[in-house]
Amino acid sequence: MVINSSIRYQRERLTIDDIDLESIVNEVGTPAYVYSLARIRDNFSCLNAALAPVHARLHFSVKANGNLDVLRTLKEVGAGFDCVSGGEIFRALNAGAAAKDIVFAGVGKTCSEIEYAVGRGVGWINAENLGELAHIDAIAAEADRQSVKVALRLNPQVTANTHPYMATGHGAAKFGLTSDVIRQNLNAPERYPRLDMTGIHMHVGSQLGDSKSTLAALDKLLALARDFPQIKTINLGGGLPVAYHLGETPPSLAPLAAELARRLNPYTVLLEPGRSLVADAGVLVADVLYVKRQAGQTFVIVDASMAELIRPALYGAHHEIMPLRKTNGETVTTQVVGPVCESADVLARDRDLPPLAPGDKIALMMAGAYGMTMASNYNARPRPPEVVVDGGRWWVSRRRETIEDMLIVEASFRRS
Ligand code: LLP
Repeated sequence: MVINSSIRYQRERLTIDDIDLESIVNEVGTPAYVYSLARIRDNFSCLNAALAPVHARLHFSVKANGNLDVLRTLKEVGAGFDCVSGGEIFRALNAGAAAKDIVFAGVGKTCSEIEYAVGRGVGWINAENLGELAHIDAIAAEADRQSVKVALRLNPQVTANTHPYMATGHGAAKFGLTSDVIRQNLNAPERYPRLDMTGIHMHVGSQLGDSKSTLAALDKLLALARDFPQIKTINLGGGLPVAYHLGETPPSLAPLAAELARRLNPYTVLLEPGRSLVADAGVLVADVLYVKRQAGQTFVIVDASMAELIRPALYGAHHEIMPLRKTNGETVTTQVVGPVCESADVLARDRDLPPLAPGDKIALMMAGAYGMTMASNYNARPRPPEVVVDGGRWWVSRRRETIEDMLIVEASFRRS
């Protein structure tokens, strides 16, 4: 059974780029994230090919997966980066990114983050409020930088078809500036002598159910941009959807690419894809600790939880569950839960799964995006390792945290 070009069952074992996942977790333990770098390269080249008519430059959204080997891999195939904090800029630079290939976004950048970004010479700052423009201008003057490229982020007042927590373009959202405010500021560039405001940015949401909101927002953006000939660059943000359910395929990008190409011909186009480049390249492997039948339900208690993968608890997100050893037994309606002391700590609800027993290992699929980056130490759980697979071999890219790691930053920690 083939899940994608990298992940498939071979001789009843779940493999990633032909390596038996069980052989990896036998060495590194569970829970563990495992990523295929080949799949990430594939996703990047497919997306580039699909968007060829638009000539878009892809800036990978680091918030989806900040692993240094993942970032380095994307840098090597030609990606730039979309960062939303000083920490993400530091990560991207550490992975070898050139500062000019970084766009810096975020609704609440601190002065020290702006100083860092300007000091390092990031390519673009996507700005979202007027106070921020004043800060960037002052910081550029202090750093003796003649000009900093700024793309004002438009709030297009368009509601995206997605989970409400991932919709960012509607009027009530905290993101962006209204077109009136953008117009006023583009009309008065003398207010910000060090800012080169030649770009406009938008991002209407993530895991978009269709392209209607993107195109509606783009039309509003273009109506604005056409009145300001200095606008040469348009950044469309991220949001391309992936298929979380087995057997589902994401919509073809061809119609959207054609629409974008038609509208964006005169402009330099940037995109900030996150999920679509990495989600299907990663799995989270967990071990079954106990099986408990109670109140007419079957609970499979595993050693991964909402601390390692928060998406099901936070968004009701669906992640397929694949046993590392394929079995053909009759399926059982199962609640797959973690050890965390919250009723929300359910990784899969009412899922028909083959019978599982303690010691069985399962993979939570499509965990390469917003998995490890959103992991926490809740319940004092050390964050899991990240393993990368490439060219027939694998290595621990980030080791498992230890219980000491979690205390080391506390002043009264005493080593015993
Ligand atoms: N650009 C901006 C300005 C963004 O806010 C985001 C995502 C992206 C790009 C990348 O979007 P993507 O291509 O990955 O859809 N934690 C949620 C997703 C939150 C997305 C936040 N912003 C999840 O687990 O689904």
